[in-house]
Amino acid sequence: MSEIKTLEDVRNIAREKLKGICGVYKDCDGDPRRLCQGQSYGRALGIGGIGSGTSFHNNFLALRKHNLKMELIEKDIHPNTFYDFFGMNLTMPIMAASVAGVNSFGGDSVITESGFCHAVVQGCKAAGTLGWRGDTYTYSLENSYGINAIAEADGFGVKIVKPRKQETIIKFFKKAEEVGCVAVGVDIDGCGSYAMATHNKPVFKKSLKSLKELVSATSLPVIIKGVMCAEDALKAVDVGAAAIVVSNHGGRVLDHTPGTADVLKEISLQINGKIKIIVDGGIRTGYDVLKMLALGAESVLIGRDIIRAAVGAGAEGVKIHMEYMQKTLQKAMRMTNCMTLNDVSSDILYETY
Ligand SMILES: Cc1cc2nc3c(=O)[nH]c(=O)nc-3n(C[C@H](O)[C@H](O)[C@H](O)COP(=O)(O)O)c2cc1C
Repeated sequence: MSEIKTLEDVRNIAREKLKGICGVYKDCDGDPRRLCQGQSYGRALGIGGIGSGTSFHNNFLALRKHNLKMELIEKDIHPNTFYDFFGMNLTMPIMAASVAGVNSFGGDSVITESGFCHAVVQGCKAAGTLGWRGDTYTYSLENSYGINAIAEADGFGVKIVKPRKQETIIKFFKKAEEVGCVAVGVDIDGCGSYAMATHNKPVFKKSLKSLKELVSATSLPVIIKGVMCAEDALKAVDVGAAAIVVSNHGGRVLDHTPGTADVLKEISLQINGKIKIIVDGGIRTGYDVLKMLALGAESVLIGRDIIRAAVGAGAEGVKIHMEYMQKTLQKAMRMTNCMTLNDVSSDILYETY
C-alpha cells in the first residue's frame, strides 16, 4: 500500500478491482452508455442509477448548469474551509455519504462490508471529517457494520437507518447513542430501495407522527435524508429534525427525478436557516461543492467516489480523496474571492442555461 501516493493511483486500482461493475470514468455521470447503467433492468442495481438512469444523470446535468464567477483583482487569500457540524470542528464541509452493500460488488475479494465501513470512517477521520454509514438488508441490530466502525473510531461518524419498522429504527438509534455517534437519521427515500424490497426487508413511507416519534426517541440530532421538495423540507422542520439532506439517493430509488442542484435553491429559501441543509448527488470536485454551497447548502456528502476510494486503497484512499476535495474547494474559494464558508453566496454563480 505504501507506493500509493496520488488519487490517480487509488482510482487505477479501483478500476481493476471493479471490472464489470464500474468503469471509474473521468465523469461519473449516469450516462446510459456507462457500464453501471447496463445493469439496472431486471438485475442488481450495482453502483448505477435506477431504471433509465435519468435521476442519476440529472444530478450531473443540474450541476453543469452553473458556473463559477472568477473575481481576481483583490488581495491574495488562503481560504479557510473549517466547518462546524453539531459542535464538531471539521476541516471541510464535505463528508462521506451513507452508503451500504458494497460487498455485493464482486464479494469479499474486492472489499468486505466491515472493511468498507472501517475504511470510510477512519479515512474521513484522518482527513478531519466525518464518515456517514448506511444500512441495507445484510445489516441487523446484532451485526451492524456501520455502527461497529463508528464505535472503533470513538463515535466519529453518523448513522443513517433505512425507514424500517419504528421499533427497529429506535433500537438502531439507541446503539448509535451508546457508541457516541455525532448524529443519526433516516433516509426516507429508502422506502423505494430496490435492495430492501428484493430481500424481503420491509421499508415504509414515514408520516409526520412517525418522524416525530423518532426525533423524541433519541437525544442525538436527527437528520432526514432524501428530501426533494419544499413541502417535505418544511415538514422536517415541523417534526424537529436538526438537518435535512437534499438527495435523490444518487438516483437509485425513483426514475425521472430532477437533479438535486435543481431543487436546492427553492428548498433553501423555504428553510431560511431554520435547520441545516446538506446535499448530495453528482458532487465530484471542490468546484461542485462550492456550487452547492452557493445554492444554499451548508455542507455536502460524497457517495460513489468514496466507494471507489475505499476499494482502491482502503482508509488511505478515502483520506487521499477527501484531501483532494478540500484542495479543490480551497482553489475554487480563492478564485471566487471567498475567504471563509460564510462568504459564499449565489453571487459567485453564473447560470448558463
Ligand atoms: C452503492 C450505493 C449504496 C448506497 N446505500 C445507501 C444507504 O445505505 N443509505 C443511504 O442513505 N444512502 C445510500 N446511498 C446513497 C448515498 O448516500 C448518496 O445519497 C448518493 O450516493 C450521492 O450521490 P453520488 O453517489 O453521485 O455522490 C447509496 C448509494 C450507492 C451508490
